[in-house]
Amino acid sequence: MSELQGRKVAVLMGGRSAERDVSLHTGEQVATALSSTGHLVELIDTATPTFIASLQQGDFDVAFICLHGRFGEDGTMQGLLELLNIPYVGSGVLASALAIDKVMSKHFFSLAEIPTPEYVVVQEGEQSDIAGIVRAVGPKSVVKPAKEGSSFGMSIVHEPAELPAAIELALTYDAQVLVERFIPGVEVTVGVLGNSDLIALPTLEIVPAHEFYDYESKYVPGMCSHIIPARVSKETAEECQRISLEAHRLLGCRGMSRADTIVGEDGSVYLLEVNTIPGMTSTSLLPDSARAAGIEFPQLCEKLVELALEG
Ligand SMILES: Nc1ncnc2c1ncn2[C@@H]1O[C@H](COP(=O)(O)OP(=O)(O)O)[C@@H](O)[C@H]1O
Ligand SMILES: [Mg+2]
Repeated sequence: MSELQGRKVAVLMGGRSAERDVSLHTGEQVATALSSTGHLVELIDTATPTFIASLQQGDFDVAFICLHGRFGEDGTMQGLLELLNIPYVGSGVLASALAIDKVMSKHFFSLAEIPTPEYVVVQEGEQSDIAGIVRAVGPKSVVKPAKEGSSFGMSIVHEPAELPAAIELALTYDAQVLVERFIPGVEVTVGVLGNSDLIALPTLEIVPAHEFYDYESKYVPGMCSHIIPARVSKETAEECQRISLEAHRLLGCRGMSRADTIVGEDGSVYLLEVNTIPGMTSTSLLPDSARAAGIEFPQLCEKLVELALEG
């Protein structure tokens, strides 16, 4: 019997973000996994007005946040759990808030000299200098709202003429927008587990059926294949892992994270973003990499609970 047997776990899911449906799915799978390892699990939908009272009255040992995007992955739920004095899986307030903000985290990556595609930030209400942006990031770029996951509001810009509409679309999601150089290459994602003793999971290559790893590729079965380890050289795979570990430390993540990287055609590795609450269904990217490292999904969920309870 594990030491953790019989912990009372609140699985937080649903919520109000654009990723509600994904979250409900994740929550159910995490709850099933934790129940199968002997924990007492209660599912709590954070979109219900009484969810804070449920947390206060539930006498929980730990909370497992299965929420993506705003009001879940962005530090707000973490802040609430701090106030309620309930330990929780994953990163704290600051790391969560930094990682969800693609503009802020890119500033940090640049300061720490972690390679990341060149970028320009566009602010709502400001006249954007299209020619200047193209000079900085090149003619093909990716436009993303600063704080939206699952590729919502994102566009690939093939030529400068497409840029104004792409920026306008992204600005309907967020007052800050990132325009980033498009890097053709192999997409490699790396899961990281741990608090102070970190391990990088095996590299996973994402092969999307669409032009980029969009919402459908992420969540519709068969729309994307996972190749573990990624089809890159051993040195490049190690570089992806090194960058992922460095980014986890730099942002101050805890428990788990998953870094999305692109290996360019010349073999250079670029960091795109760090996810502090990556997809956690049993077939999601991080759980797939964990399985390749010999950690089955229920053990992974249990390990995350263990890390949350570590002092
Ligand atoms: N600079 C880039 N160059 C090439 N492809 C990119 C770039 N940025 C994003 N992408 C593609 O878009 C996907 C989503 O971008 P990402 O920054 O990871 O945001 P999110 O996953 O939060 O939507 C990536 O997985 C990749 O397929
Ligand atoms: Mg991503």
